[in-house]
Amino acid sequence: MAENYLTPRAEMRPTPGAGFGSFAVAPIPAGTIVACFGGTPLDRAAFDRHDADRRSRSIQIDDDTFLLGPEIREPGDAINHSCEPNCGMGGAAQVVAMRDIAIGETLTFDYAMADGSDYDEFDCACESPSCRGRVTGSDWQRTDLQQRHAGYFSPYLVRRMRAAGASRKLTKRDVEILMNTLDDDPIASLTTALRVVLGRPHSTFETLVSLSPIDAAWRSGVIAGHAAALDRLASHLNECRGF
Ligand SMILES: C[S@@+](CC[C@H](N)C(=O)[O-])C[C@H]1O[C@@H](n2cnc3c(N)ncnc32)[C@H](O)[C@@H]1O
Ligand SMILES: [Zn+2]
Repeated sequence: MAENYLTPRAEMRPTPGAGFGSFAVAPIPAGTIVACFGGTPLDRAAFDRHDADRRSRSIQIDDDTFLLGPEIREPGDAINHSCEPNCGMGGAAQVVAMRDIAIGETLTFDYAMADGSDYDEFDCACESPSCRGRVTGSDWQRTDLQQRHAGYFSPYLVRRMRAAGASRKLTKRDVEILMNTLDDDPIASLTTALRVVLGRPHSTFETLVSLSPIDAAWRSGVIAGHAAALDRLASHLNECRGF
């Protein structure tokens, strides 16, 4: 049984410059679910233990979660990137037609709609007039793409975009509360402050720390609850009122 789904209105074929691709073999109306990804969900550390080819046939579905694609290529894996796509993300693991697609057209989505890290970066061969040349894991941050593809980004990227808009510096009052509550319950106190500066009102302490732009050794000390690392984070937030 296949791990991935490809609509019966398309089939996989070799495509110049990009390995295999999926092509419409029947008209595909706008709104059709053209592909769904299955596979094993892994965090980045476990995902990186697999080879690059398999990783490239996988999909990122959350900040630190990747659906590892099948060992052997399946038609549902073969939706290529285009800088002028006809499909978009209809969910974290689902590709949907953004417009009517005619027989013979290649099914494509913009990988900026799904990728939020550097696991699958490459030089683009889409040859569209607006080709951006290189496809990277930070393309989702481009405001031109966010506007052009609004409504077709993976939910975790939409959450990131909202967080960027909701984040703010701590006020004097926020800092007072942080410093007054730090001794009693440092994790709760830092969680409250980090939720404000990262614009994520519902995230856990671990998620907030993993998203904080601090160096790796400091981060692991904070997650392990080491008093010196927690104090250093509180002092930083006190002095900078953010990052
Ligand atoms: C999910 S796979 C798509 C199927 C792939 N073409 C194959 O043959 O298995 C993603 C990989 O396809 C290639 N690819 C997809 N779109 C491309 C593009 N526009 N230009 C060049 N390579 C592309 C890249 O190697 C990328 O890592
Ligand atoms: Zn391109």
